[in-house]
Amino acid sequence: MVRIIEIKNNKKEYLELLLIADEQESMIDRYLERGTMYVLKDSEVMAVIVITDEGNGVLEIKNIATVPKFQGKGYGRYLIEFVSNKYKDKYSVLQVGTGDSPLTVPFYEKCGFVRSHLIKNFFTDNYDHPIFECGKQLIDMIYFKKDL
Ligand SMILES: CC(C)(COP(=O)(O)OP(=O)(O)OC[C@H]1O[C@@H](n2cnc3c(N)ncnc32)[C@H](O)[C@@H]1OP(=O)(O)O)[C@@H](O)C(=O)NCCC(=O)NCCS
Repeated sequence: MVRIIEIKNNKKEYLELLLIADEQESMIDRYLERGTMYVLKDSEVMAVIVITDEGNGVLEIKNIATVPKFQGKGYGRYLIEFVSNKYKDKYSVLQVGTGDSPLTVPFYEKCGFVRSHLIKNFFTDNYDHPIFECGKQLIDMIYFKKDL
């Protein structure tokens, strides 16, 4: 049976999964403790999401990842729908920052997010090494948002 469980302790147990979406552990450390984490599992864990309260009614997805063999089966969307429903009375906006990558931008657009703003040079300023996705270096952080 597919279910979603909140992980409160030993979040680092899922580090391997979190690194799929955010490849530098020190950057994960910036939000993991204060974040609320859910895993979607059947007989094994298939996907993870970490969200944070950014103030002013804004909820932010800091990490979302589906285990590669389970990608494209709707689990990422399911986790976004789950947090959207669960937090819609407490927050007005769900936002997410991502690199300009063909692996993630279409996913957020399919899930109903629209482009919001940009943090220039976020990846080059904050990561200790260049990050490439699909052969393209990630430079700016693009924010997407969705009304709850
Ligand atoms: C991005 C990610 C979380 C999506 O999760 P997923 O479980 O594979 O996504 P879903 O199956 O729920 O996809 C939802 C929709 O988005 C589409 N989609 C997902 N990735 C896509 C891509 N790269 N290009 C085009 N469409 C995509 C799916 O086809 C689906 O559309 P449909 O309903 O019309 O078929 C997952 O691919 C992943 O873990 N990627 C690596 C980690 C990562 O980059 N995380 C984001 C960090 S910002």
